[in-house]
Amino acid sequence: MTPADEPWWKTAVLYQIYPRSFADSDADGVGDIPGIIDHLDYLAWLGVDGIWLSPVTVSPNADWGYDVSDFCAIAPEFGTMDDFDRLVGEAGNRGIRVLMDIVPNHTSEEHPWFVDSRSSRTSDHRDWYVWADGKEDGALPNNWVSSFGGPGWTLDETTGQYYFHNHLQEQPDLNWWNEDVRATFDDIFRFWSDRGVAGFRIDVANVIIKDAELRDNPPATEDDDFETQMFGQRSVYNANRPEVHEVIRRWRRLADDYDEPRLLIGETPVPVDKLAEFYGNGSDELGLAFNFNFISAPFRAPEMRAIVEETEAALPPGAWPAWTGSNHDMFRFPTRWAEDDPAKVRLALLMLLSLRGTPVLYEGDEIGMANVTLTQEDLRDPLGVRFYPYYEGRDAGRTPMQWSDGAGGGFTDADRPWLPLGDLAAVNVQAQRDDPGSLLTLCRDLIGFRRSHPAFSAGESASLLTPENAWAWTRGDRHVVALNISSEELVVSTPAGTVRICTDRGRDLEFVPGDLKLAPFEGLILEHP
Ligand code: GLC
Repeated sequence: MTPADEPWWKTAVLYQIYPRSFADSDADGVGDIPGIIDHLDYLAWLGVDGIWLSPVTVSPNADWGYDVSDFCAIAPEFGTMDDFDRLVGEAGNRGIRVLMDIVPNHTSEEHPWFVDSRSSRTSDHRDWYVWADGKEDGALPNNWVSSFGGPGWTLDETTGQYYFHNHLQEQPDLNWWNEDVRATFDDIFRFWSDRGVAGFRIDVANVIIKDAELRDNPPATEDDDFETQMFGQRSVYNANRPEVHEVIRRWRRLADDYDEPRLLIGETPVPVDKLAEFYGNGSDELGLAFNFNFISAPFRAPEMRAIVEETEAALPPGAWPAWTGSNHDMFRFPTRWAEDDPAKVRLALLMLLSLRGTPVLYEGDEIGMANVTLTQEDLRDPLGVRFYPYYEGRDAGRTPMQWSDGAGGGFTDADRPWLPLGDLAAVNVQAQRDDPGSLLTLCRDLIGFRRSHPAFSAGESASLLTPENAWAWTRGDRHVVALNISSEELVVSTPAGTVRICTDRGRDLEFVPGDLKLAPFEGLILEHP
């Protein structure tokens, strides 16, 4: 059992909403907050405990909300502050907490702070951003590149200096060495926490501090991963600075000041050993840290198992992992992991909801939404627009939620949603909701099982010995989760028990006397006396 003083999010199932694509209440083709409110009953029915909203704050949308021009106001296309307060209240009435996305690394170039910062070298906000002179020979201040491609420095003609941006040039990086920046973000955290927000997903949490001396990044070598080699350098100085932990500890103190401490979830795309550092001593930094090693792993038993075991071993005592398969940047797991094979999708979902840790579903995971094939004209993500056809950007995983197979997919009454709809006939909520064999029913039953078995959701876990392409682990004292991630039948040796939930629902309640046979891409939860 989770002791009563354990935080709510340890036994929770979290659900990411990409507001632009969730539900459009006013027929402009763009999802909005009233649309989310309209679907809270659905989320409560599904059993979700908390929703994380991708940014709903004001933004000129160079990077769809991740370029913020006012951190304390709601973007008009999503609704009003009243709508937001109503969302927090209505969600709370259903036992659902609301988490905001906060983007501390950078602002929009249209943010008044940056407008002032770039207006003169002596402006009040000059030092709020990362400014530097070019070299005498006219070269850029240093070799840092943007993770969105191209140099990380852009010349500002008015003041003759360069500003740094780890992403788009429309997203200047803040200078987190400046105490006023830190104090202002304390206020932003409090502003939303005081409105009843239960926590924050912190955008690019590993990136915010830049080397104070702006040293050149070292070159990539053949031993580096694909991405590092592609950028030609290791992000040692433009990101991943150890001083970031001081800032995160400051936020944690702030979060812990509330009667119900606010949850901090970090976007932390770093190797497992570095991920563990973001949990601090286990209780003084992030509550949860997204594990991109897991998200990016191939859906094969040896690789997945290795990452989970490595993570469990690396985390400090008291720390709790988070597991996720899809998000608005990483594409949808039904396509990426499961190659749109329904059996594999079911298996991956069972895995996500059965590991020791907090699962974070992405809207549409529960019905198996796949990546959507788009044409060049459809693209909205600045990365796709810039790099097509070499890279199509992230839109394939951002298309609207498929509520029904009617016109607009139940998402919108507009003639054209902001991104095209996927295959509505193949996948939609309405068709799956009352179908006992559907993925949605499996998902809801798994969530319900977690909720009614705290020892399962919060219990400890240990791997069992299995054939190479199977993977099995205990949860608490009475449960075993077993997966066959292969196209061959496999036998896993387990204690005798009863199948509680199987990806093949025909096996639910089957008694297994011992050696457990698993069909190709089958997985189940076994309960023993
Ligand atoms: C994060 C967001 C992503 C955004 C980037 C820059 O990675 O998840 O969508 O483009 O930060 O803000």
